[in-house]
Amino acid sequence: MSVLLTNIGELVTNDPAHDGSGPAEGGTVPGGRGTAADGIGVVPDAAVIVEDGRIAWTGPAASAPAADVVVDLEGRCVLPGFVDSHSHTVFAGDRAAEFAARMTGEPYTGGGIATTVAATRAASEDELRARGRALVREMLAQGTTTVEIKSGYGQDVATEARTLRIARELTPETTYLGAHTVPAEYTADRAGYVGLVTGPMLAACAPHARWVDVFCEPAAPTAFDEDEARAVLQAGLRAGLGARVHGNQLSAGPGVRLAVEVGAASVDHCTHLTDADVAALADSWSPADGGPGTGHGTVATLLPAIEFSTRSPYPDARRLLAAGVPVALATDCNPGSGYSSSMPFVVALAVREMRMSPAEALWSATAGGALALRRDDVGHLGVGARADLTVLDAPSHTYLAYRPGVPLIHQVWQAGARAV
Ligand code: NIG
Ligand code: FE
Repeated sequence: MSVLLTNIGELVTNDPAHDGSGPAEGGTVPGGRGTAADGIGVVPDAAVIVEDGRIAWTGPAASAPAADVVVDLEGRCVLPGFVDSHSHTVFAGDRAAEFAARMTGEPYTGGGIATTVAATRAASEDELRARGRALVREMLAQGTTTVEIKSGYGQDVATEARTLRIARELTPETTYLGAHTVPAEYTADRAGYVGLVTGPMLAACAPHARWVDVFCEPAAPTAFDEDEARAVLQAGLRAGLGARVHGNQLSAGPGVRLAVEVGAASVDHCTHLTDADVAALADSWSPADGGPGTGHGTVATLLPAIEFSTRSPYPDARRLLAAGVPVALATDCNPGSGYSSSMPFVVALAVREMRMSPAEALWSATAGGALALRRDDVGHLGVGARADLTVLDAPSHTYLAYRPGVPLIHQVWQAGARAV
């Protein structure tokens, strides 16, 4: 059965074919999908044909082919569903008091992670599943059709594996983050914990995970230094997982360069960067690089809801964009450093606080997230893409930042079916 979505006031496709230039040739982004700088493939007065869960056709409504079912969107804007490439949505407990203390002057150090670890270990599998499901539903209602979920609040073999089993029920984009922090019982034996994370815990978790991640942050006493983080990532890679890194959140530490060194798909936070970090990220996309990331480098994923909720300076998105580094935006939804599940909120912050244009922010929240997950079937509405669409109760994508905090999500379609 085919569905025609028509009378779309503005269709954002992220498809360079609609920017008049055709697919980017020799572009830095795999699949010839271009970058935000090439444009976001806007079609005014548009229509989309969806068939078998995929995009079958996009173009001007006036020339749309016929379909079995017609949906009139009455001039609204249609976007690719948001790709939230970084979240920690399977956990128990609550850290509202920590947030309140921060708002009256306490700094964020990552120390509160232990609170969530204790609550998550004590929770039943059913409770964790119910909370994870509810958060993913909350994200879907805000236009997110692809989400990545990390473990990291178990920090023992059974709870890490349980978290990832539950996450796998919710998304294929699951990330093993046993190396989130060193749990209290290993404070005097850090090497022992790294041995657990790279040994028995990895063996139990790898079957449920696509990615391995580590919180590499010398400025946080319970996070991991460069050598520890390298050991974690290399063990994950050997087990067949792809790498991603929490890096440069609290200081200009080694996270970014380590991520590039191991060919990670993304390094996330990037709040404190040196010139060498920015150059390493840009070089990772160079075809001449010859390294593990050749032609498929390391995305800089920015998480401005964390700077909002920790009252920290925002990352310098313009510096990364000027250097040609692909930028993704994600929520990092978690109970500690930032508990927003809203990609529209993140887009609004990126525009207002990081001086991204509305088009750049939209690209980063969709195509950028897909690139950070090395997915070419989501994050855009080119022919053949998964039919994941978000319909705004607004005439253009600019409204995401222009009307912050307003519930603009009118409909959400996932794999060709109406989900919201
Ligand atoms: O991405 N930085 C490390 N991990 C999470 C925060 C986790 C927490 O505070 O519970 C983050 O910000
Ligand atoms: Fe995170």
